[in-house]
Amino acid sequence: MSDRSVDVAIIGAGPAGLMLAHLLRREGLSTVTVDSRGEEEIHRTHRAGILEHASVEMLAHEDLGSRVLSEGHRHDGIDLRFDGESHRVDFRELVGESVWLYPQNEVFHDLASAAHHHTMDVRYEVSEAHPLDIDSENPGIRFVESDGSSRVVRARYVVGADGSRSVCRNAIPEHRRTHSSTTYPFAWFGILATAAPSAPELIYARSPRGFALISQRSADVQRMYFQCDPDTDPDAWSDEDIWNELQKRIDGPDHLELKTGPIFEKTVLKFRSFVCDPMRYERLVLAGDAAHTVPPTGAKGLNLALADVRVLAPALASAVRGNSALLDEYSSTALSRVWKAQNFSYWMTGMLHQDPEESTFASARHRGELRSVVDSVHGQAFLAEQYTGWPDIPTTSG
Ligand code: PHB
Repeated sequence: MSDRSVDVAIIGAGPAGLMLAHLLRREGLSTVTVDSRGEEEIHRTHRAGILEHASVEMLAHEDLGSRVLSEGHRHDGIDLRFDGESHRVDFRELVGESVWLYPQNEVFHDLASAAHHHTMDVRYEVSEAHPLDIDSENPGIRFVESDGSSRVVRARYVVGADGSRSVCRNAIPEHRRTHSSTTYPFAWFGILATAAPSAPELIYARSPRGFALISQRSADVQRMYFQCDPDTDPDAWSDEDIWNELQKRIDGPDHLELKTGPIFEKTVLKFRSFVCDPMRYERLVLAGDAAHTVPPTGAKGLNLALADVRVLAPALASAVRGNSALLDEYSSTALSRVWKAQNFSYWMTGMLHQDPEESTFASARHRGELRSVVDSVHGQAFLAEQYTGWPDIPTTSG
């Protein structure tokens, strides 16, 4: 027996799921969105902080509050540092685009608040959510509410936006999907600290001690990362050790000194590149991390999730109205961008990190690779175009 019936049932209320629900609301479709986490818990999860211009346009919509425009910070370039030199890559000059620093917590906050405002059906803290009957005309989802009651919601389509450990993905028969992945021999040690910004833009540094990234959150909270062994215990590092390590990795002739302060969060982030192909099976569609993950070096994860739902929303809307041509193209359209982002994330990661087993040939070649970027306007433009994001691919039907 069903409790209700909607056009689209979405498992996962992170940025991909909630943004999709908003886009479908604008198309006049009904949705239910469920998540095993609590609203506060999702809000507190620290993830990436860089938005491509296309992601900003989506969030800047007035029915989502447009906070990204008042609270986000436009960044027109990055500082690439290696061999003690600093090189500014000027996105605006090279490709006429910028990115915005606007943390994922804020993205979630805006989407969740707007969902309350528009009285959308979003249910947090559910358990055992999974898709039902996805190869029938009448699929749905089953879940248990936080008060213990079991629910079934029937829908025309089910969307799995349930993150990298997706239950929905596993509902696709194994012989109907291919998983491609690679792993990396390093991870990131990420910190949040109460401190003033050390630089106006993000610093991506390769040093013989490994990679470091100096990012920001606000005028008094900073986000930084440094390459570490995946088995590192974050609690074994004192604040002083962390600041010393970061400082050594960004040292250069400009004598840039990091502004330090108390560190209030330390985490080790493991890296994996992963793609599930196709991203749709019958009445089940995947979006965001459920279908693909990238290492964080290119800041593409959240942007890819938003790009997926930008393609998916009009496709679902016309499928619900009886024309599934766009939906039939969804997987190949989305995967085309996904693989560009996989390539970019892999390239940036390889170029900027120090493999623990690296040969002298590999180190010198990396230097050659970095020089091919910074010494050439075309090399810089290649990086700038990828970092700021590709235009959407026009669809052929619909
Ligand atoms: C961040 O601010 O968390 C961040 C920025 C850029 C990246 C990754 C993470 O490439």
